[in-house]
Amino acid sequence: MKSKYADLKENNNLDKIEEAAQFIKEGKLVLFPTETVYGIGANALDTNAVSKIFKAKGRASDNPLIVHICNTQMLERLVLEIGEIEKTLIENFWPGPLTIIFNRKSCIPNNVTAGLETVGIRMPSNKIARKLIELSNLPIAAPSANISGKPSGTKIEDIIDELDGKVDYILDAGMVDIGVESTVIRVVENKVHILRPGKITKEDIESLGIPVIIEKQIMEECKSHEKVMSPGMKYRHYAPNTKCLLVYSHDNNKLVDKINEEIELEKNVLVLGKTSNLNKYKTQNKLDMGESLEDISKNIFTLLRKVDKYKVKLVIIEGVKKEGLGLAIMNRLIRACEHNYIEVN
Ligand code: TXA
Ligand code: MG
Repeated sequence: MKSKYADLKENNNLDKIEEAAQFIKEGKLVLFPTETVYGIGANALDTNAVSKIFKAKGRASDNPLIVHICNTQMLERLVLEIGEIEKTLIENFWPGPLTIIFNRKSCIPNNVTAGLETVGIRMPSNKIARKLIELSNLPIAAPSANISGKPSGTKIEDIIDELDGKVDYILDAGMVDIGVESTVIRVVENKVHILRPGKITKEDIESLGIPVIIEKQIMEECKSHEKVMSPGMKYRHYAPNTKCLLVYSHDNNKLVDKINEEIELEKNVLVLGKTSNLNKYKTQNKLDMGESLEDISKNIFTLLRKVDKYKVKLVIIEGVKKEGLGLAIMNRLIRACEHNYIEVN
């Protein structure tokens, strides 16, 4: 059966959001926009509803979900305590693309947190997401909208084929703002550990005088037996079927030369590059990533979903500096390339 669909691209039609909120109350799945990526939402307090999310995505049951809230009263009902650093982060970055890990209360079903004693919570800034939570008057558990392993959905056209019929309601608000998932952090011994980089950067958090540690697994390959702070780090993610290679140099000429060298070797190649570099590559197959980090973060998931259509032997992707939003982009790209990465100095 097809999912119910509402087009909210022109205006935030309240009737439709109200209807979708009713679906959440009834234990059904609603695909909804957030400022980062689309989410597949269900009542976070309903074990059965949450289990439908895992089924729809084909998600491993040991990978916990993020709970979305619309006010701090909801937060207090879900977590044991809110530390001083967490309070500062909330004041500065909520509502917005930051997920904070807290010690959880027992009212949260075990399948939401994959049995962990902690829960990841965020207050999205997207108006439709907030309205949906407010009108259902429930915390909403929601992973990114994609089949597990695929790039996250940043517009409905990209994900309709894989999710139509698997969710009950689709709220279509067009392209999202940011394009990569939220920053996930946990405070340990008065330091913020970044478990997944996103739009809220190390630099943003440090500017508040809080020390920040970037978990090394963000850019490294994770062995399945290794203990990780965030289960999501273990899984294959974002990778197209075609082999991909990520190339970076702080010197743009060297970057272009290296990519041309690789094109020469492999011949049947597709390049994903910055707008200003595209005409320098000696191949017909090119996709434009945009110019700024903001452009690239908006475009990468849609581009990664396109590359298999080219039927090439190799996809070469331009890397960016691992700083600010660039770290989030590189974290997604290095996974898309399954750690097939060259850095030229
Ligand atoms: O921007 C986002 O965060 C999007 C939108 C829909 O809000 N959601 C999202 O959810 O990206 P998902 O399920 O695709 O990714 C959640 C990540 C996973 O890597 C998971 O392992 C981690 O957050 N996570 C969730 N709860 C956790 C916990 N209690 N401890 C450590 N990591 C956790
Ligand atoms: Mg995801």
